Parts: sequence; structure tokens; C-alpha cells
Amino acid sequence: MNAINARSQLALLLHADKALDLVRTASRLGLLARLDAGPVTLRELAGSLRARPLRLYKFLDGLESLGLVERRQGSDDLLAAEYVSVEPLVPAVAAVLGEGSIERDRDRYPWREIHGRLEEVLAGGLDARFAWPPVTDEEVRGFERSMAAGCGPIQEALAAAYGEVFGARTRWLDVGGGDGTVAEALLRAAPGLACDVFNLPVAAPLVAERARAAGLMDRLGFVAGDFLAGPLPGGYEVLSFVRVLHDWPAEVARSLLAKAAGALSPGGRLVVCEEFRTRDRLAIQFFWTYFLQGVDGCTSRLREVEWYTEALAALGFTGIRVIPGPFDVVVATRP
Ligand SMILES: C[S@@+](CC[C@H](N)C(=O)[O-])C[C@H]1O[C@@H](n2cnc3c(N)ncnc32)[C@H](O)[C@@H]1O
Repeated sequence: MNAINARSQLALLLHADKALDLVRTASRLGLLARLDAGPVTLRELAGSLRARPLRLYKFLDGLESLGLVERRQGSDDLLAAEYVSVEPLVPAVAAVLGEGSIERDRDRYPWREIHGRLEEVLAGGLDARFAWPPVTDEEVRGFERSMAAGCGPIQEALAAAYGEVFGARTRWLDVGGGDGTVAEALLRAAPGLACDVFNLPVAAPLVAERARAAGLMDRLGFVAGDFLAGPLPGGYEVLSFVRVLHDWPAEVARSLLAKAAGALSPGGRLVVCEEFRTRDRLAIQFFWTYFLQGVDGCTSRLREVEWYTEALAALGFTGIRVIPGPFDVVVATRP
């Protein structure tokens, strides 16, 4: 479906509560799964849902105006109208509205404190309450919990790209690796792999707890450090930045890539996995874009994937590849 114009989009935003009512109801009725399964007529849907056809027709018009379904009407017969999802809706709805969704987690941050006061925020008179990087135990736990909530698609992407990312390499340093959630998932799937999470010292107990709980003490380690302050440690065959570089201004992101190049031996792999700048990714990042207006220390700057591939080429990396997936993964080899 084509993008809609500004007037139309704003109408949908103003009526967002009604739109979500349609989506939630469609989910409860099992209608989304039916639309995901392939084209289905209004006649079939009305029969199986025991809905009045004309009412259901309007309901489906609502989903169509949200860009979620496509409709084919080959004749004047209303009941012959045929509907299908534009893409799988069940997982999309689970990701946003489901229990434990990343968007629900985001909503617990104190964004209301800046809501309606953006003039003050823009002028620098009001900050959002968010410690970046997190400092206290509570801040670290809260933040890493949010990060962990969004790890599913990253784990999926890295697991799918495993051969190209790791090959036979087994010593991995996950730079800015949070509480080790991503590392744990990959270590469980790859018994030969070992990972150290490199993170600020405050994150050490979280990774240790995770390694203990998962029985991975011998393969999931922790290296405390500040990547802004010194070089990255050597001795690893794979270095990754997962959702790290977009937090920093371009010159810092470039210097981190250069530090990674310095730490890797020839043949070592560098991996960058994060939300690269597209309309879809910007939309998924919308919460942080809004909330972090009031946080000067966090850049929150999605960059086009080409920015990374060009930066890696400028540092002499070879075999630079973008592997598409639930999260795109950039892989490059240190010559
Ligand atoms: C956006 S989170 C991403 C966490 C994890 N990679 C993920 O995707 O779930 C950024 C990570 O960078 C870490 N970090 C921030 N500043 C750092 C620094 N100066 N040195 C090392 N790690 C840092 C944070 O503690 C956090 O774990």
C-alpha cells in the first residue's frame, strides 16, 4: 500500500484509540491470523465469526485505512470482497501490544514530564529524567531490562547470520553487551562459542548473575571497561557492537570502530547490528526519539547502513557485507 498523505496520517493519529480498538478486537477474534493465512472473503469471515456482513465490512475498512489489509472487490457483491494481510499481522501486533512488549516497557519511562512542554525542552529549560549512561544499580538494572526486552529479533538475526558472522571463530567480545542477554542466546545455540561482555563496571553483577543462572560461567565472561577512555581489549576473533554506535556522535562512533580495528588481529570479524535508518526503523525508534530530546548526553542517531559500510571501508576492513534480517547485520573482516 502506498504511503498516505499528511492530512490522512494525522487523522489516523488523532483517532489512534479507535484504531487500536479495531486491532485488539481483530486479534481477540482470531481475525488477524485468518487474514495472515491468505485471501479470505467477507462471506467466509462473516460466517465463521458470526458477524453481520455490513458491520464486518466497515470493520475491515478500518483495518484497510490503517494500511494493515488489502482488499479486492471483483464484483458488486459485498460478500465477495476478498481480504488479506499486507504482511504477517499476528507477530507485529504481539511485538507492539503483546504482554511484555518493548513498547509497553518504553512507556514506563517518565515521558509525561516533558509531554506538552517541548518548547521548554527545545530551549534547554527542561530535561527528561534519564541517566545516560546509567550509573546507579537501579538505573543500570532498569535500562538493561529495557534493552533485554528488545533482544529477540537481534538474537534471531545473529543466529541466522551465524555462519557468516562467526564461521569457525570462537572468541567473541560483545562491546557494550548489556547484561549478556544476546550473548547467552548465542552461546546456548553454539556450544563451541565463548563470549566476554565488555561494559561499564556497574553491569558486572548482571552478567555474572546471568552466566550463573544459565550455567554458562565457563563461557560467558565480563570485561569491565569504558570504551570512551581507552583501547578495546585484544585477543578476540569477533568484536560486536549491538545497538551501541547510534548512541554516540559520528566522531565517537568512528573512533570506536577504529578501536575495534586496533584490537582485532588479521582475519578477525567486526559486527555491527542495530537499527539502521529507514522509515520503518525510525518509527520503531519513535519513543526514544521523543523522550531523548531532553537528554543531551545520548545522541540517539540512527544512521543509514551505508554510513557504517563506508566507515569500515575507510578503516581498511574487507569483505564488508550487509546481511538482511529482523535486524540488519553488518559484517567485515580485518585485513
Ligand atoms: C543501548 S545499550 C545496548 C545493550 C546491548 N548491546 C543490547 O543490544 O541489548 C548500550 C550499552 O552500551 C553500554 N555503554 C555505554 N557507555 C559505555 C562505555 N563508555 N563503555 C562501555 N560500555 C558502555 C551500556 O552500559 C549498554 O550496555
